[in-house]
Amino acid sequence: MRRSYLAAFTIAFHATLAKAGTAKVLIFTATAGLKHDNMIPAAIDVLKDKGPSIDVEFDSTDDASTFTDDNLKKYDALLFLATTGDVLPNDESFQRYLNAGGNFIGVHSACDAMRNSKTYANEIGSLSYNAPEVQNYVVDVLEPKHPSGAQLSSPWAVIGEAYNFASDPRSLGARVVLAARESTFFDTNKSTTQGSPHPIAWYQEKGAGVQTGGIAGRSYYTALGHLPETWQKDVLFQRHILGAITWTVQSGTTKAFNTSALVGNYSPSGSAGPYAFTSSHSDTTRC
Ligand SMILES: *[C@@H]1O[C@H](CO)[C@@H](O)[C@H](O)[C@H]1NC(C)=O
Ligand SMILES: *[C@@H]1O[C@H](CO)[C@@H](O)[C@H](O)[C@H]1NC(C)=O
Repeated sequence: MRRSYLAAFTIAFHATLAKAGTAKVLIFTATAGLKHDNMIPAAIDVLKDKGPSIDVEFDSTDDASTFTDDNLKKYDALLFLATTGDVLPNDESFQRYLNAGGNFIGVHSACDAMRNSKTYANEIGSLSYNAPEVQNYVVDVLEPKHPSGAQLSSPWAVIGEAYNFASDPRSLGARVVLAARESTFFDTNKSTTQGSPHPIAWYQEKGAGVQTGGIAGRSYYTALGHLPETWQKDVLFQRHILGAITWTVQSGTTKAFNTSALVGNYSPSGSAGPYAFTSSHSDTTRC
């Protein structure tokens, strides 16, 4: 039982999809709350620098007015990097992008953004409850075969806020890749609703932000990456984040790997075409 389960996962992670183009990812860094001033530019530099090694091209913006259907449909994934607060005036274009097969990656304080959007909360998997102070802590790698968990050490000593989450991402079908060892850090106000072990990074094969009838892309969230030095110097963290991005863009629901997909970076002969789903926003997503 256990063995065939693992075998199935190994196949799923390593299945090679036919590539139609270089994946394009939009890094979105708007902040309406706390801003990670030094980390954000360092992270963008590292991602743009390492992009060719995973065949991903990154654009970056902190301008919410770029969230139009025409602009979003060029991207295989949206990466919310240390966003905080209500960074989009509304989540309608985001919802349509997800319904059309778009993929999502949330990093660090992206779990403390868009608290007015059930779509966003479902797509990221869980929002933060609070943040213990920045400190060293230890994570266990629960999914060493997942590209974001491969070639890490386990246990792994990291630094940052071991966020507490308001809900258990596993309740939406997420699988936890990294879990914080609670005995390794100070936390006077733990979440009793985030499940155990303490989730720190997870993936959803079908991001739960999609509406019924939509094409579910993938979703990944990691709480790591608080310090600029982590991005610049921590080789294990770089493997983790690049593995997460690689896995996310390989959903098969976007043009980098699927010429008939509705969104994503398309080959010169193709055209992005209209979205299949233009239903107005409603809260019919799973919760
Ligand atoms: C624990 O954290 C929650 C969420 O931030 C907050 O509402 C609550 O007041 C905190 N409780 C204590 C005792 O600090
Ligand atoms: C490719 O995209 C089409 C159109 O969105 C979709 O119906 C199909 O399921 C996708 N293929 C895969 C492997 O996801």
